[in-house]
Amino acid sequence: MCGIIGVVVSNKSTRYSPGSMIFRGLLRLEYRGYDSAGVASICGDKLIVLKGKGRIIDLEKKLGFSKICGSVVIGHTRWATHGAPSDINAHPHTDCRNWFAVVHNGIIQNYLDLKKTLINKGHVFKSDTDTEVIPHLVEDYYGVLRNVYRSFKQAVRVLKGSYALLLISVHEPEKIFFAKKDSPLIIGLGNGFNVLASDIPAILEYTRRIITVRDGWIGYVSGNDVYIEDLDGNIVDWRRYVRIIDWSISDAVKAGYPHYMLKEIHEQPRALKDTFYGISRDENIVRVVDMILDAEKVFVTGAGTSFHASYYFALVTNVLAGVMVYPFIASEFESYTSAVGEGDLLIVVSQSGETMDALKALRAFKERGARIVAVSNVVDSAIPRESDIAVYTRAGPEIGVAATKTFTTQTLVLAWIAVFLAKSCGCIGDDEAREYMDLLGDSAKIVSETISVTEYAAKKLSEWLYRVKSAYYLSRWIGVPVAMEGALKLKEIAYIHAESYPAGESKHGPIALVEEDFPVIFIVPSNREVEKLLLGNIKEMKARGAVIIGVVPEDSGLVDEMDYVFSIPRTHWLITPITHTPPQQLLAYYTAVRKGLDPDKPRNLAKTVTVE
Ligand code: M6R
Repeated sequence: MCGIIGVVVSNKSTRYSPGSMIFRGLLRLEYRGYDSAGVASICGDKLIVLKGKGRIIDLEKKLGFSKICGSVVIGHTRWATHGAPSDINAHPHTDCRNWFAVVHNGIIQNYLDLKKTLINKGHVFKSDTDTEVIPHLVEDYYGVLRNVYRSFKQAVRVLKGSYALLLISVHEPEKIFFAKKDSPLIIGLGNGFNVLASDIPAILEYTRRIITVRDGWIGYVSGNDVYIEDLDGNIVDWRRYVRIIDWSISDAVKAGYPHYMLKEIHEQPRALKDTFYGISRDENIVRVVDMILDAEKVFVTGAGTSFHASYYFALVTNVLAGVMVYPFIASEFESYTSAVGEGDLLIVVSQSGETMDALKALRAFKERGARIVAVSNVVDSAIPRESDIAVYTRAGPEIGVAATKTFTTQTLVLAWIAVFLAKSCGCIGDDEAREYMDLLGDSAKIVSETISVTEYAAKKLSEWLYRVKSAYYLSRWIGVPVAMEGALKLKEIAYIHAESYPAGESKHGPIALVEEDFPVIFIVPSNREVEKLLLGNIKEMKARGAVIIGVVPEDSGLVDEMDYVFSIPRTHWLITPITHTPPQQLLAYYTAVRKGLDPDKPRNLAKTVTVE
């Protein structure tokens, strides 16, 4: 999983040089991978490549990406899949004669076979990557066809796997050639220049006019023109696909916060407001509800945080509408497919809309005749495109690797669907439905208050928590997916082992680990019955010397049981993810910062996981 970008300029009056556009774009794509990076350009009649292992900002100082000459430049930021992070394995990759340079996001599954054939023909490989077969293949075809585009098309035809790829060549130095299958790619249309990139933030500084490249499309861009063909070789009338992005550039940069994660935590009131606005006008909600009611079996899936939102949805539909929805972790889809057939429905939750595990689950269910609903934050991404219908969160771009605002907005959309479902099946009356809708409409205000009353406590507690090695996150019922989300945040950005399970399970094993000063974080939903049950679990942990931390409604008797408390407004259990998650996000954030870690770029992780 990687970020790619290309810039081709015909009009030298653009504000930035192509090198500097690539460098700035790469910084915005760094969330997609950051173990190595590189750029290539055509300078005079020569191909120049600058690349290496390390962070973009350090490589810029060492190699001067932004100063590279030429008006056609491509760049790449890498997250290793084939071949360890190293100078040699960094992209761009080139052929034997230095005629072609390629950047690629995805995986070429048949690269070993292709590499063997090419080596037998005399090609010499420099890296361990799958990508390097591409420039060699193009070189090979060029030997026969003597035409760059035809050679590129021929090479793409033999690739198996996923790719968004860009190629430049000394033989046609005014163009960038591109192809796409299963990895994201957009084209940004400028005045006297054009840009290609994996994602919108990389180009937003230069243009708002974009085209989302579809699977199977192949073509090239020059400074003044775009040429695209589809899978069957038909010319694509790309002007039909141009859309204007209404995100502001400040949506995609840190806006004064020290980290994207903190900015994105604080953006939740705005994100929830926009999402509420969107869903309350979205006609697809009624269709989704009808699809659920018509379905024989309903499944919901996602990975990581999106699975937690899925699990929450299953609990809510059960309680409000008496509808059984089966939640499962996307990478485990094969364990469920034999139970799936026509008449069933799968809801796929994915903020990026590109997560390979979720995409594979979608395809497997679709193959068996199930209908598919997508819940995503990225319009036109792969999962919505391959679904029968999509509903969107409106969280805006999320750059921090840890999902924050996209989780709370996902649960808002899912709660809204559950309320409509309950109303449609007559499980709740109009008045009750109206109350829930008003509550969801108020969630932006509520979250804003929660953040302001808990941020200081999170900072204080991090002064102690940063030293611990392990923690439990416990709750019951609707609080369980929320506790799971809290544990995932602490693990992924503060590198503290954190485990979450329903509190009733303690006595079946996990309590054996609890000793003096062991932190146990209780998520206490606004529900008197659950509060009563949790009291027993708190007492059993206290008796073993645990430090009890709680996210608790301010008027709950459980406040007095806590060693540290995040006291939040009492609302309704339905919005537990929205009320109880931000304090956990803040706690993980400040603990990571206290440990001197970069919360935006946790080790071994990438924002969008487009590999299995
Ligand atoms: O884009 P998606 O929602 O499909 O991503 C799923 C997970 O990779 C993602 O939620 C991941 O767990 C985050 N790092 C959690 O903070």
